[in-house]
Amino acid sequence: MDLEPKPIRDDELMEFFGAVQTGFGRTVLDEDDEYPGHLITTDRSFAVRDGDTIVSTASSYAFALTVPGGARLPMAAVSMVTVHPTHRRRGVLRSVMDAQLDDVARRDEPLAGLTASEASIYERFGYGTATQTTNWDLESEYARLHHPHTGDGGRVRLVDADGAAAAAHEVYSRIAPGRVGELSRPGDWWPRLFAPRSRGPRFFTAVHEGPDHEPDAFARYALDNHWPDGVAADVLRVLELQAVDADAEAAMWNYLFGIDLVGTIKAVDRPVDDPLRWRLPDSRRMRVRQLRDHLWVRIVDVAAALGARTYGADDALVLELVDDFRPEHSGTWLLDGGPDGATCTRTDRSADLALTASDLGALYLGGVPVSTLAAAGRVHELTTGAIARGDRFFLTHPSPWCTTHF
Ligand SMILES: CC(C)(COP(=O)(O)OP(=O)(O)OC[C@H]1O[C@@H](n2cnc3c(N)ncnc32)[C@H](O)[C@@H]1OP(=O)(O)O)[C@@H](O)C(=O)NCCC(=O)NCCS
Repeated sequence: MDLEPKPIRDDELMEFFGAVQTGFGRTVLDEDDEYPGHLITTDRSFAVRDGDTIVSTASSYAFALTVPGGARLPMAAVSMVTVHPTHRRRGVLRSVMDAQLDDVARRDEPLAGLTASEASIYERFGYGTATQTTNWDLESEYARLHHPHTGDGGRVRLVDADGAAAAAHEVYSRIAPGRVGELSRPGDWWPRLFAPRSRGPRFFTAVHEGPDHEPDAFARYALDNHWPDGVAADVLRVLELQAVDADAEAAMWNYLFGIDLVGTIKAVDRPVDDPLRWRLPDSRRMRVRQLRDHLWVRIVDVAAALGARTYGADDALVLELVDDFRPEHSGTWLLDGGPDGATCTRTDRSADLALTASDLGALYLGGVPVSTLAAAGRVHELTTGAIARGDRFFLTHPSPWCTTHF
């Protein structure tokens, strides 16, 4: 039986999509799905066949990830990973992950990243949780900005699909380069995201414009209508809210909080250190319903990736890296850096910290302290004081945040 991952041809694309659907247990394409399948390119897509039938799939998109210090690094955004139920747990995923990482390395992309269906799958392949995200609920009664924004001479407009795609693209293009953890979204992402489905638009899009009439924030939201016992209690679902600065963000929340007939506001993909909590009159009413991993990062080129970001303090740390899935990365690395840049090279020096490839992926964007990973029994201190030095060195603020699903 030939179960080798092989790149697909253009004429296999529809069959590939069908196999992805089967892998995720879906019988029909979900019209509301925001999965950016249209971005797929066949030369980055692998299929495993058993005879004539595709039984496993994986693809990746050529995205860029904003890292601390502002560099935007090529990242293979891994997606459409499936193994059919007929072929599970016999090492097919492992062989697909292997072929794909070779492919990413050949393309000189220093990073791979993914969003996981289950958090238990990818550590063994060297991926670590690099960004986290929250979903929260807020009763409309408490949805007020207690600490109001200043200087808002702008206005909010509800826009149609075409206007929304253009404005959202513009706003996002201003945000992504400055937000550690955020991804580039290609131009054709936007018209697809806003295109109405057969039953009409899936959500409203509000755009905030500053006094200069330039869009500086947008929100995609939908209302689920509820009228129990004649009392209006709609659920306002905030699907995405992006703003170029704190004032624009506050102005957009102010608009959303003012929508009538709403009982509860439910927001998704919000940052773990959301400043909105500190603007509310009763912050306890903002109930975090989910705190979860979002972007998983895998370092593919250790020297290039670690040398491309900046660090919180001038220091030179020696890392003892254990990379079971890519053993050629294992060994000691000298990471010499600070706020102005860094270099990462092989070294014979004795190590300060011992960690796995997955831990390094988790630390890469500065979203988790070294001390937390040490307290979890993952990172080990080999030189006294190295954990505290690692905290000062790797951590970034605000926490890395990725709002892109792929
Ligand atoms: C998740 C999935 C791709 C795994 O494929 P698979 O071919 O069964 O995986 P493999 O046999 O290669 O397993 C490799 C390792 O991962 C482990 N593993 C696989 N799936 C796992 C899961 N869902 N949870 C925990 N561990 C898992 C295996 O136990 C094995 O561990 P080992 O190396 O310690 O022996 C497959 O079950 C699937 O398609 N699921 C539905 C779609 C999905 O969730 N895709 C992932 C999208 S991000």
